[in-house]
Amino acid sequence: MYYDPEKNDHGLPFNPFKACVIPRPIGWISTISREGIANLAPFSQFQNLTFDPPYVMFAANQNTRGRRKDTTVNSEQTGEFVYNMATFALREAVNRSAAEVPPEVDEFELAGVTKAPSIRVKPSRVAESPVQFECRYHQTLRLPGNGLMGTVDVIIGRVVLVHIRDEVIAPDGRLDIRKIRPLGRLGYYDYTTVDSIFEMVIPGDNENLLKGLEGAAGAKKKE
Ligand SMILES: Cc1cc2nc3c(=O)[nH]c(=O)nc-3n(C[C@H](O)[C@H](O)[C@H](O)COP(=O)(O)O)c2cc1C
Repeated sequence: MYYDPEKNDHGLPFNPFKACVIPRPIGWISTISREGIANLAPFSQFQNLTFDPPYVMFAANQNTRGRRKDTTVNSEQTGEFVYNMATFALREAVNRSAAEVPPEVDEFELAGVTKAPSIRVKPSRVAESPVQFECRYHQTLRLPGNGLMGTVDVIIGRVVLVHIRDEVIAPDGRLDIRKIRPLGRLGYYDYTTVDSIFEMVIPGDNENLLKGLEGAAGAKKKE
């Protein structure tokens, strides 16, 4: 089958679109308002964009009243946000923090999680999350969309500090993913966790290509 997303003529009981790009990592984004109120919300339209220097993005649609979400407003007004990794153990708190509440509500309290101070930015980190990135706002790309919520603000931020809890670093120096059990979004109301891992290396002897895959940008370019 195929369908036109402008018409949504898929004939299925549920829109399949979100189930076609899976699993999506969840950026659990903390910000602080100009008035100093802490905000926290999950975004599965989230990714790293590059690694040297690292940039991440999240895409925030308009809220159910057609307004920009608090996370968007705070990121732009203060120039800062924090990415917290969402995990299976934190799933209920992640879900609670998605409630649409007024900007005056402290969503760390709503979710029942603890604030850990950041070092380079003002928004707090979620202490219970094993990985957090302190980010400086870089740019917003606003994509027009349909209906009240369709327009989306793609927020790009530069990662200025990376926090990893010592206990999730395995003896071989890698992140212990089976211990972390990161949460991933599927379609519908479904989620998954990363529980199985296998390794593949690009064939050939292009060392720089392999370094890129591993996360190193390689030698500095000669001028
Ligand atoms: C797992 C999960 C993923 C979500 N992903 C997104 C997303 O990518 N973009 C978005 O606009 N809203 C997403 N939401 C909804 C927001 O979290 C929700 O609108 C929240 O109230 C926004 O909070 P804020 O207004 O404090 O920024 C998601 C919700 C959940 C539970």
